[in-house]
Amino acid sequence: MSETLCFHPFANLIPSMSDEEYQGLKADIAEHGQHEAIVLYEGQILDGRHRHRACCELGLVPKFREWEGSGSAIDLVVSENLHRRHLTPGQRAVIAVEAVNLQQLQMQARERSVANLRRGDTLPDGNLVAPREQGRTRDQVAAQYSTNSRYVQDAQIISNAKPELLEQVKDGQITLPQAKQSLLREQKLAELQRKAEAARSTADGPPLWKIHHGDCLEVLPTLAGSARVIFADPPYNLGIDYGAGADADNLPPDQYLAWCRGWIQQCADCLTPDGSFWILISDEWADYFGVMLREAGLHRRAWIKWYETFGTNCVNNFNRCSRHIHYFVKNPRCFVFDPFAVSRLSDRQTKYGDKRANPGGKIWDDVWKIARLTGTCEERMPGFPTQVPLAITGAIVKCASEPGDLVVDPFSGSASTGVAAVQGKRRYVGIEASAEFCRLSELRLQALGQA
Ligand SMILES: C[S@@+](CC[C@H](N)C(=O)[O-])C[C@H]1O[C@@H](n2cnc3c(N)ncnc32)[C@H](O)[C@@H]1O
Repeated sequence: MSETLCFHPFANLIPSMSDEEYQGLKADIAEHGQHEAIVLYEGQILDGRHRHRACCELGLVPKFREWEGSGSAIDLVVSENLHRRHLTPGQRAVIAVEAVNLQQLQMQARERSVANLRRGDTLPDGNLVAPREQGRTRDQVAAQYSTNSRYVQDAQIISNAKPELLEQVKDGQITLPQAKQSLLREQKLAELQRKAEAARSTADGPPLWKIHHGDCLEVLPTLAGSARVIFADPPYNLGIDYGAGADADNLPPDQYLAWCRGWIQQCADCLTPDGSFWILISDEWADYFGVMLREAGLHRRAWIKWYETFGTNCVNNFNRCSRHIHYFVKNPRCFVFDPFAVSRLSDRQTKYGDKRANPGGKIWDDVWKIARLTGTCEERMPGFPTQVPLAITGAIVKCASEPGDLVVDPFSGSASTGVAAVQGKRRYVGIEASAEFCRLSELRLQALGQA
């Protein structure tokens, strides 16, 4: 008879044992017998699913007892299992939220049953009608389940929006932070899709932008002499997976540099006679890039350091928190440079109230302190590993081009340059090797409308 017993929904609050854990338990029961009775509640197994399975598989008659507690049967499941299982804080938070939700359902059912009863009457489940249990704070719940309040909050949000994700956390397939990221990504994408659709339905005229899906080496020759400004943030050969596998971004140095020399020359050929070329690059390659840009016949205007405000902490070297922006022009005597696009209030204005201060402020220094886009930034697009802030692309586009000009990015990614261009009423051509990045960045641009 016992093999046909069902598990009580409360029992399923606790994830199943791994096969290894279960085999250990089964071996222990085979050797020493079943120590603890399986607990039954409402004719189903409340606690002891694995003991029951082991006894059945071993051909032993399982020992049972009825649950006779006075509080909630959920508390028994939790108190019996949390301490003896290896569960992560994320899994504990999920169990906490599922338990609270179940308790609320239980309470609502009881309230419906007691609607016609008075305090002190007996309910169908044999318990007395009691005043409603005071809701516990998130901190209290977190403490009971040995997790943290932030995780409980995240699990509750996920439970409301996409409960399937919590099952994956409970089963150990993903962590709670990964589930949260996945939910945020989906919500952001849905929002983008909604905005893109709304913008498409009201669009009057062709878009100011185009994303080419392909290899920049093949598309750049079609743009000869047309770009007023080019911004390039190439792969840095650091083993980042942009969709073609990490090896594609891990070439032998000579091969990487030869490839870079090729597209740098092509970009130089795409510039208008008064155009400028800006390249964002990491420490590993910055010196080589300066030389390659000169070899392409271009002239340096500035070597800008982007101070990202924080980065990689090192143990035996200075922390990595900056990148290089090479700013080169085709003609050192003829170029577009709008100082107002890259100006700030001077110390004379803000600190000293000096009447001689230029009311237009002063041009930025060649160290740009702009925070990198962390995973939680509002501006951050889902699914892009290396998105550049609009504060950078916006400044470059506005400084080095005029409305109506063509702006090109041979490594378009999330189209950060494209967004800056469209917002500034410039035309944009982006080239991107990844089909998925093309699709997502097109959505991002569509969502802008004609800006
Ligand atoms: C560092 S990321 C650019 C990120 C971009 N600046 C942003 O803000 O999202 C480099 C991009 O170049 C793309 N890429 C790599 N090789 C390429 C190629 N040969 N032609 C065009 N795009 C390429 C990658 O897929 C990746 O999206």
